[in-house]
Amino acid sequence: MKIFIIAIIALLAGCSSGEKEKTPESNVALGENVFNQNCVSCHGSKGRGLAKDWKVKDENGNYPAPPLNGTAHTWHHSPSDLLYTINKGGGEMGGQMPGFEGRLSEEEKLALLDYIYSLWPSEIQTKYDKRFK
Ligand code: HEC
Repeated sequence: MKIFIIAIIALLAGCSSGEKEKTPESNVALGENVFNQNCVSCHGSKGRGLAKDWKVKDENGNYPAPPLNGTAHTWHHSPSDLLYTINKGGGEMGGQMPGFEGRLSEEEKLALLDYIYSLWPSEIQTKYDKRFK
């Protein structure tokens, strides 16, 4: 029943505005899939990160990929800022992340945002909703 209601809300939201509402489970699943194929090699399983400390540069003088799971500052950025980073990568700020513009569909990128959001603890999701949704 709950899933059914969420699906209806998502449908209504989809028709009435471009605004993204809480999305059905399936987008999280798609996002997880896309993440595991494109992002996990740097950001680690479930976005936990691979480096011991993401704030410390590696031996090549580059910052490692930060965790995306709510322990770093990903949740300080609006959905459109996160999309921008996914599209453009880190090049503009001297970073190492490749851009995914043209390599992933819009649906896949939005699903990535849903997946990343799903990795955060509920307190952080609540703060994020208050600030950006
Ligand atoms: C080659 C390694 C690499 C890959 C692959 C990669 N990233 Fe990144 N990512 C980074 C690094 C490094 C940074 C930090 C900025 C920089 O140095 O470019 C970053 C930063 C980010 C940020 C900003 C985080 C924050 O806290 O502000 C997001 C969001 C992000 N990546 C998402 C993704 C997603 C989604 C994918 C897959 C589509 C992905 N990244 C693939 C290395 C990578």
